[in-house]
Amino acid sequence: GGPIRILGIETSCDETSAAVIENGRTILSNVISSQIESHKRFGGVVPEVASRHHVENITLIIEQALQEASCTWDDIHAIAVTYGPGLVGALLVGVAAAKSIAFARGIPLVGVHHIAGHIYANRFAKEFEFPLLALVVSGGHTELVYMKEHGSYEIIGQTRDDAVGEAYDKVARSLGLPYPGGPHIDRLAQEGTASIPLPRAWLEAGSYDFSFSGLKSAVLNVLHNANQRGETIEAAELAASFQASVVEVLVEKTFRLIQERPVKQLLLAGGVAANKGLRAALASRAAVEGVELLIPPLSLCTDNAAMIAGAGYIVYQKGILADMDLNGIASLPL
Ligand code: KG4
Ligand code: ZN
Repeated sequence: GGPIRILGIETSCDETSAAVIENGRTILSNVISSQIESHKRFGGVVPEVASRHHVENITLIIEQALQEASCTWDDIHAIAVTYGPGLVGALLVGVAAAKSIAFARGIPLVGVHHIAGHIYANRFAKEFEFPLLALVVSGGHTELVYMKEHGSYEIIGQTRDDAVGEAYDKVARSLGLPYPGGPHIDRLAQEGTASIPLPRAWLEAGSYDFSFSGLKSAVLNVLHNANQRGETIEAAELAASFQASVVEVLVEKTFRLIQERPVKQLLLAGGVAANKGLRAALASRAAVEGVELLIPPLSLCTDNAAMIAGAGYIVYQKGILADMDLNGIASLPL
C-alpha cells in the first residue's frame, strides 16, 4: 500500500500539539501551541488552567495540523495520543479528542507513553540501532532507558526525588527568573564560571539512580547565606556552578553504564535535551568513547505531537490498539 499517515495528539502538560507524520519518520506537520504565557504569572503550570486551554485549542490545532500537512481525514490511517504520564485533566482532553476522531472515522487508535515519545523524537533524523541507551531529562523525568528493540524499555536508573528540569526550574525561581527557568539558567551558565563549590550526588557505588534535591537545597543555602551576610552572588556564577554539577553527574553515570552495557547509540531526550552545556558535554564525551550520539533538534526537544506519532507508529505496527475505554493515567509506567 501507500504511506501510512498517523495523526499524533499531545496534551500531557502545557503544550497543545497535533502532528501528521508519514511512515513513522517523516514529519508532514507539527503544530504546537504553548500555554507558557498563561502559567508564567503563577510561576509554574496550573493544572486547571492547562486543561481549559487544551479544551479551547485542541480542535483548531488538529485542523491546522491536517491543513499544514495538506491532508484530509481520508488521508489519516490511525490516531496516536499521549495517555500518560502527565496532568490527568490535561491528558483527558487529548484522549477524548483522539477517541472521538477514531470512533467517527472508524480508524485505529493507539495510546502512547509520553517518554516513549521523547525518545522517538530522535528517530526523525536517524534510524535507531539496537541496543541503545536513552538519557531522558525533562520537567518530570530523569531516566536511563535501555532499549534492545523498538517499543522495549528497561529503566536502569531514575531520579529518587526531583527531575532535572524541575531542579532547573526551582533554582531559576530562587534567582527570580521567570518560568520555565531551565533556558534562563542555561543562558546564564554560558556567561559565568563554575566557581561555587556544590555537591554531586553519586549515590551508592554502582547505582545509576539520580538525586537533585540536595543540589537544589545547596543552591538555596548559598543564596540564603550570602543574603544574611549582606553579600550578593553573581547569578551567572551560581547558574554555571549548578549546571556543572548536573551535567557532570548525568554524563558520568551515562558513560559508566555504557561501559558496563555497550550500546550502538546514545540518545538524549526530553525538554532538558535543549540544554547547551549538556549537549556539548555529551557530544565531546561520546566522541572520546566512540559512541554514536543522537540529539533531537531544539524544536523537537520540548513537548510536541510529532514525537508521539513517531512512537505511536511503532505501537501501531505491533498491532497494539487501544479502544474506547482508553483513559488518561497520571503516573503511567514506561
Ligand atoms: O519535556 P518537557 O517539555 O516537559 C516535560 O515532559 O516535563 O520539559 C520541560 C522542562 C522544563 O523543566 C524546562 O525548564 C526544561 O525542560 N528546559 C531546560 C532547557 N530548555 C527546557 N532545562 C535546561 N536547559 C534548557 N536549555
Ligand atoms: Zn515532555
